[in-house]
Amino acid sequence: MTPDQLRALVRTIPDHPKPGIMFRDVTTLLLDPEGLAAAADALAATVTDKPDLIAAIDARGFIVGTALALRLGCGLLLVRKDGKLPGETIAEDYALEYGTDRLAMHVDACTPGARVLITDDLLATGGTALAAARLIRRAGGLVTGARFFIDLPDLGGGAKLRAEGIEPISLMD
Ligand code: PRP
Ligand code: ADE
Repeated sequence: MTPDQLRALVRTIPDHPKPGIMFRDVTTLLLDPEGLAAAADALAATVTDKPDLIAAIDARGFIVGTALALRLGCGLLLVRKDGKLPGETIAEDYALEYGTDRLAMHVDACTPGARVLITDDLLATGGTALAAARLIRRAGGLVTGARFFIDLPDLGGGAKLRAEGIEPISLMD
């Protein structure tokens, strides 16, 4: 499947969840068996240096992260919206394109020195991925990069991640 064919599987819904937001909806890509497999395979192929853990961000990032972890043979670290994890957590506030939120992770999910690759469906302002990176680093983990199905380059997330020493790779802009 070509990058253009993959891009055509992502639906755009204007004014969701707020006026002015062009919402890039991956549910249509996920519904397509060839598209889902091709996206997961293509993203896995960008990982040349296998990490110890894949960090997957609540909620759409769980899909991307699980697919990558299974393909690469890595463990899966869940970075969840605050209030969901049962054990002792650390948390970080962040802003995104249409609001603010708080992410959390178990304090013991990541052993010091573990190499962790961040995954999500989409990179916009970078607020979410950077909050995940702060959590992983607070726990002593080393962030080896970040992977997304989609990057919205006009929102500047890629530049923000690079400024923090995190190289983002995406399948489509
Ligand atoms: C979306 C998306 C990313 C984030 C990207 O998640 O799945 O996690 O926004 O935006 P940013 O780069 O500006 O931070 P959302 O918070 O809407 O949650 P969801 O996955 O639960 O739908
Ligand atoms: N997360 C942040 N901005 C988004 C957008 N425009 N579409 C889908 N998810 C998003």
